[in-house]
Amino acid sequence: MNDLFDLQKKVAIVTGGNGGIGNGIARGFASMGTDVVIVARNSQKTEAAANEIREAFGVRCLGLLCDVTDETAVKQMAEEVQQDLGRIDILVNNAGINIRKLPQDYDTSDWDQVLAGNLRSAFLCSKSVYPAMKAGGSGKIINIGSMTSIFGGAKLAPYSASKGGIVQMTRSLACAWAKENIQVNAILPGYIDTELTRQARKEIEGLNDTVIARTPTGRWGKPHDLAGTAIFLASPASDFVTGVALPVDGGYSSNLL
Ligand SMILES: NC(=O)c1ccc[n+]([C@@H]2O[C@H](COP(=O)([O-])OP(=O)(O)OC[C@H]3O[C@@H](n4cnc5c(N)ncnc54)[C@H](OP(=O)(O)O)[C@@H]3O)[C@@H](O)[C@H]2O)c1
Repeated sequence: MNDLFDLQKKVAIVTGGNGGIGNGIARGFASMGTDVVIVARNSQKTEAAANEIREAFGVRCLGLLCDVTDETAVKQMAEEVQQDLGRIDILVNNAGINIRKLPQDYDTSDWDQVLAGNLRSAFLCSKSVYPAMKAGGSGKIINIGSMTSIFGGAKLAPYSASKGGIVQMTRSLACAWAKENIQVNAILPGYIDTELTRQARKEIEGLNDTVIARTPTGRWGKPHDLAGTAIFLASPASDFVTGVALPVDGGYSSNLL
């Protein structure tokens, strides 16, 4: 039973791990003795986050610059991780973006950007780590959805389409790779205090109060609130859990108000 949450010496890739939710999850893994790879585009933020994790937790931590919408770059990233750290056990598809507009105001490049940033990216990264996980005899893929995997919103057409798609893709990958001992699950965060939602709070009047009123726990989540669920879904404790979408939302999705 002691091994249920043993993540020592595993290698986890966290896309978008240089800030926000991804960083909360990356730090959670590092606190369990897992070597972590942070994948993002901003070099300063990525280097700073990797240094901080190495110093705080004493694990190996690589910061790799990669646009996760770019298939060639994603393949190279997965190869580099294997070369440098020798294996890939865990992938968290967390990188994501949003563009808020009414449906009639989006142009196709907005649509393509959001779908590529949130959904295509998760597919490309999953496909790129699959050979290493198969060769290693096990794997854990965690996709980050959203409350918009369940609900819609007037200014969320591409974002909610991408996050609904994340759940369906999670189920399909879970079915495809179960026999290879690769579990694929999704986490659906509620409202978490990050750069993404700080921007939303500026754009949507009253958002802060609405979130606090609707969330039974009465507060915004913090990035570290996602770490425990990610650790569970990355560890042997969840070996018979695959294809699920687990809200981590302080009760938001349970509350009709
Ligand atoms: N915050 C919330 O309340 C909330 C709720 C539900 C779901 N989510 C989801 O949780 C995930 C993280 O969100 P967050 O709030 O932590 O946002 P955030 O603070 O804006 O972080 C997004 C991260 O993704 C990276 N990223 C974006 N596009 C990328 C690309 N093409 N290639 C590589 N990295 C990329 C960014 O790094 P670079 O800019 O350096 O590339 C950054 O590290 C997203 O999928 C978001 O949709 C957030």
